[in-house]
Amino acid sequence: MDSSEKNVFVIFGVTGDLTYRKLIPALYSLYARQLIPENLEIIGTGRKKISQSDLNARMREGIDLFSEGIKPEENIVDKFLSRLTYFSSDMSSPADYRLLKELVEKTDDKPAEKLNCIFYLAVPPGMYTVISERLYESGLGREDNGYRRFVYEKPFGYDLWSCRELNQKLHSLFNESQIYRIDHYLGKETVQNILVTRFSNGMFEPLWNRNYIHHIEITSAESIGVENRGSYYETAGALRDMVQNHLLQIAGLAAMEPPSSLNPDAVRNEVLKVFQSLHPIKEEEVASNVIRGQYTASVVRGQCLPSYRQEPGVDPNSRTETYVAIKFFIDNWRWGGVPFYMRTGKRLPVKVTEIVVHFKPTPHFLFHVDDMNKAVNQMIIRIQPDEGILLKFGIKKPGGGYSVENVNMDFHYSSLGNTRVPTAYERLLGDVFNGDSTLYARDDIVETAWKFIEPVQTAWATNLDIKIFGYPAGTWGPENADKLIEGEGLTWRYPCRNLADDGLYCEL
Ligand code: BG6
Repeated sequence: MDSSEKNVFVIFGVTGDLTYRKLIPALYSLYARQLIPENLEIIGTGRKKISQSDLNARMREGIDLFSEGIKPEENIVDKFLSRLTYFSSDMSSPADYRLLKELVEKTDDKPAEKLNCIFYLAVPPGMYTVISERLYESGLGREDNGYRRFVYEKPFGYDLWSCRELNQKLHSLFNESQIYRIDHYLGKETVQNILVTRFSNGMFEPLWNRNYIHHIEITSAESIGVENRGSYYETAGALRDMVQNHLLQIAGLAAMEPPSSLNPDAVRNEVLKVFQSLHPIKEEEVASNVIRGQYTASVVRGQCLPSYRQEPGVDPNSRTETYVAIKFFIDNWRWGGVPFYMRTGKRLPVKVTEIVVHFKPTPHFLFHVDDMNKAVNQMIIRIQPDEGILLKFGIKKPGGGYSVENVNMDFHYSSLGNTRVPTAYERLLGDVFNGDSTLYARDDIVETAWKFIEPVQTAWATNLDIKIFGYPAGTWGPENADKLIEGEGLTWRYPCRNLADDGLYCEL
């Protein structure tokens, strides 16, 4: 690399949990593998008065605890942390941005010929506008001698209106190509693999449409509650926290047309088309097509779990949903008439994210089978944990006659031996350095996703008759969610930790 090139990564909110658990371990891993510039300088800023040595100690702990799949080496960690500078600032004060600019531009001898900067906003969304404005006003955002890129954490907006307003504000300051909206699910290896599995195999794509697929389920379950994030979650709820972004992005990749190339816009255009084709849910349909729930206190494996309303930072009368299940359709030639079901929730029995593709039965079933619903093929794309792909298909049950037994064929990432799967943040941060925005949400995509859920937000806010069902912590959510699934005898898959297992009572 050119020694007259300076590379700076500025983290707003450096003392927060996200920096500690995700950003610094990811940056360390990229640094240790020499995937980011060796001369990278990291400037961490925040309001707290914290000494450089205390910050370094905390970041070292973060690296030790959260570097997934790598063993941090002390001498590399030392070298990496020597690149970190703490800058205590009031993020709304113009004077502090002038000081930040001096720090960013500072060099030991002559000024750098090229200055590349990434600004990561790991702060509450309410701060996005003021920080972006100050960056612009101070000249820190100007791209005249190197790139300036701005990374925004989710949630990006609170609803369609606020998302539009934020997009407009950012576009008045920067170009869309400088704006990186993070959806960390897109950084997951297994989420990107949806694209590869679909479009690198000639055998799946011809079946991937309404002629052969009966319905698609997307589940993202978590066993944890809201933990110490109660006050944030009260303003979010499962719909904003998971559905508007992570789940819809997964649906976009599962449903999109093949892009013409892997160019960032070619891929994102196809996701956008899916979102534009989402059949709008009318406000009066919300009660029947969208089920919301909130976990109640329960005892799980001998442990007493509080209700959502008893969690710290939560209103004791809260009506915030910790569970959502939605049925929806995509109005296009590929998917017309195929129901999609999505569900997500906190305090469900197990942490798991997966897509289940249910194929249609054969036109005429010749054989004996105990349960016709089990005589259909399923393909399960497991995002996490026990990452992999499972195909369920029928074989002849050994013995007389022609009874059918359903069996599994599966691939597990763990079978790849020593191949380490990078964390989502490693992948996404590496992409910002490379200027690759394919896995970042574009302005129009985020807005279209908000537009889709807007009637749900409105109906819930205005129609108090729409129930919020209680469900005991540790169960699969409100029973009413089962009624969403169309078709006699059909239910959600009840996944377990292991990809191959399922059932309501499986080993978790
Ligand atoms: C975050 C949500 O975006 O995703 C959290 O704000 C949620 O509430 C988390 O727990 C889930 O991410 P993952 O990668 O653990 O599935």
